[in-house]
Amino acid sequence: MEVIITPDPAAAALLAARQIARLVREKPTAVLGLATGSTPIPLYKELIRMHREEGLDFSRVRTFNLDEYLGLAPGHPASYHRFMEENFFSGVNIPRDNIRLPDGLAADVQAHCAAYEQAIRDAGGIDLQVLGIGSDGHIGFNEHGSSLASRTRIKTLTKRTREDNTRFFDKPEDVPHHVITMGIGTIMESRSVVLLAYGAGKSAAIVGAVEGPITANNPASILQMHPDAKFYLDDSSAGALERADYYKWVFHNKPVWQADR
Ligand code: F6R
Repeated sequence: MEVIITPDPAAAALLAARQIARLVREKPTAVLGLATGSTPIPLYKELIRMHREEGLDFSRVRTFNLDEYLGLAPGHPASYHRFMEENFFSGVNIPRDNIRLPDGLAADVQAHCAAYEQAIRDAGGIDLQVLGIGSDGHIGFNEHGSSLASRTRIKTLTKRTREDNTRFFDKPEDVPHHVITMGIGTIMESRSVVLLAYGAGKSAAIVGAVEGPITANNPASILQMHPDAKFYLDDSSAGALERADYYKWVFHNKPVWQADR
């Protein structure tokens, strides 16, 4: 796990966008795992800018999103389908057929989840998975207590996550109780992971994930076992890390051959 501490969210998003752009240039058929929520918005903005101003070409890229609310149609204003359309897909040139999200209206949820896993395998696996982190350490919608080996499935949101996500809905009671989410085992199989976090509200989750024990009580802590996971943090989300100075030291003293990887 590599921890990269930056002064602000824009700087964190820029570094993450550069990593994704490098991958897409080196492997134009890259498979990206994508996240929603407030955190990836500056990342998507930067990727859209790179597409428009620097010709970053997404025409052969394929994407799989982490999760979707159960019961929400793709056109629902708070659905993750709609979020992705508005915040990323409408600004880049990924063909519609290359885009997959879990279907919030799936009639047979279990069969749909199995098919989603199969589609990821058929695509050759995820090259790079973008993650935010919940204030309780969840990744995707794998709430605490999720099996660290879990696959795509239905999950019940915690009270805290429903409260955190109320801001996307008209009324608190409108936040669905259930979601379809990639599992932690699914996420761990992606070849690289980019996790972004900003703000003091995430600092406890980040300490648990980076410096705590590996535990289902902080699902992001499993990323300590991932061979290529990078955490791009702003100063406030990194504020409680005991070894923050060391992570900064490592970043500023990378061997030349590693400096822009
Ligand atoms: C979103 C997702 C969630 C969010 C997390 C943080 O697809 O899977 O794990 O990344 O809830 O949300 P924000 O970024 O809104 O703080």
